[in-house]
Amino acid sequence: ASTLGAAAAQSGRYFGAAISAGRLGDSQYTTIASREFSMVTAENEMKIDATEPNRGQFNFGNGDRIYNWAVQNGKRVRGHTLAWHSQQPGWMQSLSGGSLRQAMIDHINGVMAHYKGKIYAWDVVNEAYSDSGGGRRDSNLQRTGNDWIEVAFRTARAADPAAKLCYNDYNIDNWTWAKTQGVYNMVRDFKQRGVPIDCVGLQSHFNGNSPYNSNYRTTISSFAALGVDVQITELDIQGGSPQTYAAVTNDCLAVARCAGITVWGVRDQDSWLGAGASPLLFNGGNKKPAYDAVLNAL
Ligand code: XIL
Repeated sequence: ASTLGAAAAQSGRYFGAAISAGRLGDSQYTTIASREFSMVTAENEMKIDATEPNRGQFNFGNGDRIYNWAVQNGKRVRGHTLAWHSQQPGWMQSLSGGSLRQAMIDHINGVMAHYKGKIYAWDVVNEAYSDSGGGRRDSNLQRTGNDWIEVAFRTARAADPAAKLCYNDYNIDNWTWAKTQGVYNMVRDFKQRGVPIDCVGLQSHFNGNSPYNSNYRTTISSFAALGVDVQITELDIQGGSPQTYAAVTNDCLAVARCAGITVWGVRDQDSWLGAGASPLLFNGGNKKPAYDAVLNAL
């Protein structure tokens, strides 16, 4: 196969990218994105502040721009993200307790109703665990009660039974880290108690402080063994090492329930890390060595 999407499809997987509505007018960008990828995540346009800028008033303009571009170009869509401490609109940041809990539920229902039946998988909850110690991150959502995550998942299942429901986080790639174990224990508990969860998203932003480790394959297979899919949801590698890109790809392919890989942007110039980090697979219109490494591994 000669594209990432087609190569991933040989093993029944997808290869996706984060897409930004503001770049859909850039033909170099859309040419690459349309040719190479089979899955799309909106980089910001389906987040809470974008979709519910005022309480009870939903705006799907840019989310729909990305959704429509994806479907018109034959791609599936991952939804990102419904409940998160970050990129909350001002009105939500100032809520707490029962009214925040209700606002979270209403937000999940409002967004999932709009995209009902159209989304491959939703990141229902994003980044709820602390970077140290294996417990929950402090946030306004966490302060509504420890059950906020399972309430989010139960709400999401009822709102769109066709969508896979994911828990998504960063720094849960290294199997030895407390944060990874904390999320693993939550997923195990959810599966045991019948809380609806279908997938774990490993963001996989690799850099000097959180480098790729060869125990990544153990992380993927351990989550998969709990009975959930694993999706690599926001892959970027500071410095763009082809060897590391190949290792990540091989680790996913080694686990049957690793469903696909999404890179967090198209070209280096599109990356949230800045082009200087050289973290992605394209430089301008050109395929980088990391691209060839991924294509060959798929
Ligand atoms: C980032 C976007 O790439 C930026 O454009 C935005 O300014 C901040 O958010 N984890 C996530 C993503 O789940 O939503 C974040 O995306 C990157 C880290």
